[in-house]
Amino acid sequence: MLARTGLKYGTKGNSKVLSTFVRNKITLPDLDWDFGDLEPYISGQINEIHYKKHHQAYVDGFNTNTEKVLELNEELKKDPSPKIVREILGLQHNIRFHGGGFTNHCLFWKNLTPEKEGGGHLSKDTGLSEAIKKQFGSKDELIKLTNEKLAGIQGSGWAFIVKNLENGGKLEVVQRYNQDTVTGRLIPLVAIDAWEHAYYLQYQNKKVDYFKAIWNVINWEEAAKRYDNETINIS
Ligand SMILES: [Fe+2]
Repeated sequence: MLARTGLKYGTKGNSKVLSTFVRNKITLPDLDWDFGDLEPYISGQINEIHYKKHHQAYVDGFNTNTEKVLELNEELKKDPSPKIVREILGLQHNIRFHGGGFTNHCLFWKNLTPEKEGGGHLSKDTGLSEAIKKQFGSKDELIKLTNEKLAGIQGSGWAFIVKNLENGGKLEVVQRYNQDTVTGRLIPLVAIDAWEHAYYLQYQNKKVDYFKAIWNVINWEEAAKRYDNETINIS
């Protein structure tokens, strides 16, 4: 996911200068399935546009803005002024938005798997299955609660099923707006994208139908792994 771009040449006046800082760039993750593999629940067209256009835009936005911060950090060495600091602060929002969009979508793709490859199925002998039963009674009840949270998002956002390490590892369903994500002691087990671009081409205004359908392709095996390991591996 990280591509080292190495040293970069730039121009200053008429002479070429070699920038001395190394720049790392994020890239789109590989998908474990083909765009059409989640049909009929999510169309191939949606997946392709979502991945190639929307996710790519977050990748580009993050790279552009972090690059600008690197450049400003260099300027800060020569001019440690409030002006430069303010410029850096001005980029923080963009980094939060695009960085959140990048990681949220990495989680999202990994959280999906074709029905024929086990999508929608959670083995009963997993720690996650036991925790769900203990806290919610059944997986269907957890899904119902998550769908209520998703339907309650006004505008664009996400719902996450998380394992909250601050709360004894209990399961919780949390909402986030825009591209805000979950970090720190909240381990994201399942991430569901409630932005219009995730469903509109297929479901139009019936987003509730999308929220119902997506559970048929949820990768519960991945969620169970994150539950056990208390970490995520989405690279
Ligand atoms: Fe999205």
